[in-house]
Amino acid sequence: MILSKQQEAKIQSLLQEMTLEEKIGQMNLASVSIVGGFDVPFEELIEMVGDGRLSNEEFGKIMQSAERDFHEEEIRAGKIGSLMLQDPVKANALQKIAVEESRLKIPLLIGLDVIHGFRTVYPIALAEAGAFEPELFERTARMAARESRSRGVAWHFAPMIDVARDARWGRVSEGPGEDPFLVSEFARSKVRGLQNDQTSTEHYVAACLKHYVAYGACEAGRDYNTTTMARSLLHNAYLPPFEAAVQEGAVSVMAAFNDWNGIPCTGNKFLLTTMLKETLGLDGFVVSDANGIRECVAHGTAKEESDAGAQAVNAGMDMDMGTGIFLKHLPEHVKAGRVSERTIDQAVERILRVKMWLGLFDHPYVSEEAMHRYDVLPPQHRELALEAAKKSIVLLKNDEHLLPLKKDLKISLVGTLADNPEEIIGSWAMSWKIEDCVSIKQGLERIGANLTYHPCGGPEGELNEAEIEAAVREGDVIVAVVGELVSMSGEAASRADISLPGAQRKLLEKLVASKKPVVAVLMNGRPLALEWEAQHIPAIVEGWHLGVEMGNAVASVLFGETNPSGRLASTFPKTAGQCPIYMSHPNTGRPGSKSKFTSRYLDAGFEPLYPFGYGLSYTTFDYHAFSVALEDKRLIASVNVTNTGKAAGTETVQLYMRDVTASIVRPIRELKGFKKVTLNPGETKRVVIELEKSHMGFYDDDRKYHLEDGVFQIFMGANARDCMMQEVVVTF
Ligand code: BGC
Repeated sequence: MILSKQQEAKIQSLLQEMTLEEKIGQMNLASVSIVGGFDVPFEELIEMVGDGRLSNEEFGKIMQSAERDFHEEEIRAGKIGSLMLQDPVKANALQKIAVEESRLKIPLLIGLDVIHGFRTVYPIALAEAGAFEPELFERTARMAARESRSRGVAWHFAPMIDVARDARWGRVSEGPGEDPFLVSEFARSKVRGLQNDQTSTEHYVAACLKHYVAYGACEAGRDYNTTTMARSLLHNAYLPPFEAAVQEGAVSVMAAFNDWNGIPCTGNKFLLTTMLKETLGLDGFVVSDANGIRECVAHGTAKEESDAGAQAVNAGMDMDMGTGIFLKHLPEHVKAGRVSERTIDQAVERILRVKMWLGLFDHPYVSEEAMHRYDVLPPQHRELALEAAKKSIVLLKNDEHLLPLKKDLKISLVGTLADNPEEIIGSWAMSWKIEDCVSIKQGLERIGANLTYHPCGGPEGELNEAEIEAAVREGDVIVAVVGELVSMSGEAASRADISLPGAQRKLLEKLVASKKPVVAVLMNGRPLALEWEAQHIPAIVEGWHLGVEMGNAVASVLFGETNPSGRLASTFPKTAGQCPIYMSHPNTGRPGSKSKFTSRYLDAGFEPLYPFGYGLSYTTFDYHAFSVALEDKRLIASVNVTNTGKAAGTETVQLYMRDVTASIVRPIRELKGFKKVTLNPGETKRVVIELEKSHMGFYDDDRKYHLEDGVFQIFMGANARDCMMQEVVVTF
């Protein structure tokens, strides 16, 4: 964050002028409270939605007429420095109170969860990461930044960069997958996209890296669960994306809910101060997750909320999301000497610097023009959402070239998900409009498919036998859209059984039994266990939750206007019992193999269903002439890739390494680079990927970085399984 001398001076003079209460007010992030207008308490309403007594639609209606408290009084009194909100008219009104009526006239920082798009929703991160295209990640983030800033939201609770290796965890959908290298590339690009275009205050926002840290390692994939790991694993796998994004200039970080090795991240001085601020060098502030400070009492590391507040601030927490504990208890702690005023000053300075860097002091308001700039999605935004959606689709299986489909075939489209525009959006999207969403059915109709639609059944409810019979009778080919509802992934949406929910497997069994060719199009927010499907369905398209353009993207792939090129950013297990299963697993003394006394399951072996980096194309690629050259400072891996099929296509060439012998056990594969290459039929290109030798090391438990001479295996290929390998001796 680079500020001018005058800006730095303004912050210092504000700090001089502020009372302790005003300082603590800046450390308080509030959300709009629902205060009434309905007959039962708000908490019960939420429970009613959870247990099905109230539909989402009814809940939405109640919320629209609910009475809200926008905390005008507290803003005026300088007790709230940041707010979660997405209404620009209200945002302007509240900013006016902050900058005209509060004593020190400090603008509010308005934040929101903008995870994969604002008005224009693009694919969930798990899908987008599969495009393996940093430049795309950056462009989509830039679009989201402009859209949200035009509505007064200057702070995104994004990117979510939790390395996530257990498909049972619902939040795998929000992040870019399992691999520290790919997640780091994603993290850097997202920060650039959100923050770097400072040509106008309307073009950039503050990023908030989350969830710091190791939330993705929650035990058994159960949300909010405990995490325990060697420190070396933290340094080698879970911290690198945060380190990369902090280096890129990310100006805020959100602490995770979980404990890490026994201390909640929220109150963890080693993580927040020693690592994040002092070692990684965060030049911004840390905010708790929602209610996170109070939850330290439930964790059992704080006696009561006041204690939790003192622990958090002393650990390095700068802002309290949602509990008001800082506001209520920090003054008494400072007076009693349990928290130093210096700690408070440092937190406030970090927050004020971000507000200044965002230009909020000079431009606190949203103009009337900006407010309505994206009421109708601009064509370029739709195009980018479509491009991202197409590039995120992964072709998992395509026996006998069933795909692409010919236009004259009669298609029976099956599955309730096919005709449900709301379900294409994915978890954590808050500002989209239903009229912008293109369902798969709509996409197929627009492309001119010869189509009849038979809902038959979906993730919930019974199958409709008559509709199944009609689908089988009427179609030359059946396109079955199956998968998860949006509500089945995201926060608090862990699943113990990650096969297709409800009666969808049965539906597929019936369709396959008809002997008509079946194409399965998946809509889901996590890797699913699809062993049966992979054995019995001839063509499988992984469509994830792709955002507003999903239907058009899927139709384009099904009819071959787009040759699919997405890859898996997360390993697909055969069954949930294999979870967590991931590419970068440390080796064991008995590596999994066909023989019994090795690290394997009797009933599921040791291999996943689909490896990391996997994805097919309508063409085929051949790898040959692989070579590895060593220079003083780098290793250069090269391979020829030939398009051996009949269609032009894009391949993602991946570089992996394995440190064969080291002072601590190393992973059997580590992704170290990738390059996308587009080839016409018959064309060959030599793909060269360089690896800095300084990136071939690893951390130990004390965060000492080791570069150890010895044999390394270097792999290049189409995914973590299908690679060519060469051994080289590397000296550093
Ligand atoms: C989530 C965060 C989110 C926050 C604010 C929490 O429940 O864990 O990811 O940013 O809510 O909405």
